[in-house]
Amino acid sequence: MNYKNILFEIKNHIAVVTINRPDKLNALNGQTIDELEDVFHSIKNDPDVFVVVLTGSGEKAFVAGADISELNKLDVLSGKEFSEKGNRVFRMIETLDKPVIAAVNGFALGGGCELALACHMRTASENAKFGQPEVNLGIIPGYGGTQRLARVINSARALEMILTGDMVSAEEAYRIGLVNKIIAQAELLNRTLEIAEKITAKGQQAVRLALKAVKATDNISLAEGLSFETSLFALVCGTEDSKEGTAAFLEKRKPQFKHR
Ligand code: COA
Repeated sequence: MNYKNILFEIKNHIAVVTINRPDKLNALNGQTIDELEDVFHSIKNDPDVFVVVLTGSGEKAFVAGADISELNKLDVLSGKEFSEKGNRVFRMIETLDKPVIAAVNGFALGGGCELALACHMRTASENAKFGQPEVNLGIIPGYGGTQRLARVINSARALEMILTGDMVSAEEAYRIGLVNKIIAQAELLNRTLEIAEKITAKGQQAVRLALKAVKATDNISLAEGLSFETSLFALVCGTEDSKEGTAAFLEKRKPQFKHR
């Protein structure tokens, strides 16, 4: 697929996906959602990609939300389809078996905040602002915000954001656990790539099983989670990388992971 609103490159096992509609603050129109779905399909099927970094073009916005010009035309049925499609694509990102890091380079509002929430980790530039301003438009979040925000921060803070529509600064987002790190705008992509590079240097079987184990806590009880962890731990013990990683430590050398 030839992308109109997305830039995509793969380097050293890291895929960088950039939402590229800077004149509309990278707002997600239908075409951009389709392109995101397509790009994440190809990332899923590409064994050369170990980690994904998702960001926005320009220095002002990560994604300023769903495209409001399209929201304005929705009725009950098309609204349902709109929400189902966004949720399908964001769920695909969330359930990808490779880590996805959002580098939030400015406004992450509405669908932008929801997109960042669907990623596994979030870094933010100092000027980043997070918000769920849907109530200002007379609507509610429809790309997972009512579900994921309360799971990432607490439900009272999530409700405050969703019911007031107020934006939260990068500093506040860091304080409430919405972002992992705040980084100067000029350094954001490189420092986020450094985190991604650290992950690419590990045995990828272990990375994927660890990701699967941690993300499973979204849906199951602690007891079920511990039992799930045990089964994944047993699996990872059967990989070549687990033998290599432990042997390398004991032999005081760097591991040569084969991702098997
Ligand atoms: N959908 C469609 N277009 C959007 C958009 C969105 N979510 N967010 C910004 N844009 C467009 C603006 O309409 C404007 O386009 P124009 O130059 O053709 O008029 C352009 O992006 C620049 O935005 P502008 O509003 O002029 O920038 P600003 O610096 O004054 O304000 C924001 C920045 C983010 C505060 C403001 O754009 C905003 O509130 N956006 C909507 C946020 C929102 O409600 N998102 C949730 C949607 S569910």
